[in-house]
Amino acid sequence: MAAPNGHPSPAPLTPQGRWRRMLSITMLPMLLMLVYCTYGSNLFVQGMDTVRSQHHQQQQEAQLASPAHISSPPSSQAPQNGSQPAAEALSSPSPCPMPEEKEPVEDLSMAAVLEALYKPLLHPIDARNFTDEDGGIHFLSGTPRFTEKLGKKVLILDIDSRPLSDKGQIMDPELRWNTIRPLSAGMLSHYMYAQVHGYDYKFMRAPDYKDRWGTWVKVPLMKEALKTHDYIVFMDSDVMFHYPHLPLEWLLNYWHMTPETLVMMSIDPDEPQNYDDKGNRYLNTGFVVAQQSERTQEMFKHWAECPSETKYPGCGRWKKDWAHEQAAFGNYLRYDYDRPEDIKVLPCAEANGAPEAINRGGCKGVFVRHFWVDKGLLSKGLADTVMQYFMPRLHKMWMDPAAENIMDAKDHKLQGAELMKMKPGEKEAMEEEAKQNQKDEGY
Ligand SMILES: *[C@@H]1O[C@H](CO)[C@@H](O)[C@H](O)[C@H]1NC(C)=O
Ligand SMILES: *[C@@H]1O[C@H](CO)[C@@H](O)[C@H](O)[C@H]1NC(C)=O
Repeated sequence: MAAPNGHPSPAPLTPQGRWRRMLSITMLPMLLMLVYCTYGSNLFVQGMDTVRSQHHQQQQEAQLASPAHISSPPSSQAPQNGSQPAAEALSSPSPCPMPEEKEPVEDLSMAAVLEALYKPLLHPIDARNFTDEDGGIHFLSGTPRFTEKLGKKVLILDIDSRPLSDKGQIMDPELRWNTIRPLSAGMLSHYMYAQVHGYDYKFMRAPDYKDRWGTWVKVPLMKEALKTHDYIVFMDSDVMFHYPHLPLEWLLNYWHMTPETLVMMSIDPDEPQNYDDKGNRYLNTGFVVAQQSERTQEMFKHWAECPSETKYPGCGRWKKDWAHEQAAFGNYLRYDYDRPEDIKVLPCAEANGAPEAINRGGCKGVFVRHFWVDKGLLSKGLADTVMQYFMPRLHKMWMDPAAENIMDAKDHKLQGAELMKMKPGEKEAMEEEAKQNQKDEGY
């Protein structure tokens, strides 16, 4: 059958044929797009760049001809170095699916936050002095032994046999600031200190002794940790470093840890309950810095075995009696390990107590705070270790003249609802009057 105008009518298509035709009509542009996106875009872009730079030249000429004309910013001609996205790609979206963003992604991890806050302020390991927040200056004496970072040779160590999984405790996945319990704050500060200086950190969840007070588990677990690390810093959960920017290496220099030192501990306050049977004050086992050696391993072994009484008759008493492992160390171990360098006794003022405990023998915890005076102060202590660095930088930003945050209207006067510029001479008179309306300095 022929159409009236003489064109041959298309052969009638089977349903399959119609589908094939429709498919080829729709597939063709998709195929072209695929080829363009896979191979062609570079060639196309090169061609388009020439067009763009001509256009840009014209734009520049137009701007030069009429400098007062406020034009929209010219399209960026930054070379496409890969690290920068081409401005064009942003202004006119490409039909091709964008490949992975090449722009360096800003690191907003917590590790980066800590680095940004503390790294600019780190105290040099071998600095000759350190000035504390009260203006006290502490000097190294002698040549510093540690001049390089110890990094992962140091283990910051938490040990506990309790579950610590109630609300507000450290194992609570939903831990919140307003309900944080004191010991969680302490442990988090230990972790933060390790992060700031690149030390290892471990929370050891210890099994309990069947027949001893819980704190005894510290001894065998410190011994265990000394098998993997040259230096360990064990802290009770109510102990923390007050200055996260002050490296342990500096403190080891300051406190003279020699190659022969086994442990460093602080002396307890001068109070009756802190004396051993021989009338010497206990060393506090809440803060222990230990250095690995055969002799250190041996000492910790004898310490952990003390209550078995094979070596130390009478030590069994301290399984359950206060001050437990601390009393065992104070009554026995320290008298066995008494070479001059074996045990470094740290001043109570520097490594024990807190400012709130200053009337307890001056133990104000200059470098290391031990909040036995009031565990409620621990979360404030953690806040201090952040805010003493955070606040001054926030304040500098606030004060920055370039930020123009401060509007000085002191040469104006208030009249009813209006702020009005003062005439010469008026200012002095005004200041005199104002004094009478401001009796205090304000808070
Ligand atoms: C892009 O690369 C060129 C040549 O390597 C270089 O001179 C230029 O500074 C680079 N630009 C940017 C923004 O990185
Ligand atoms: C502390 O050390 C710094 C850096 O070496 C030095 O500039 C400063 O004068 C020292 N301070 C005192 C009080 O010696």
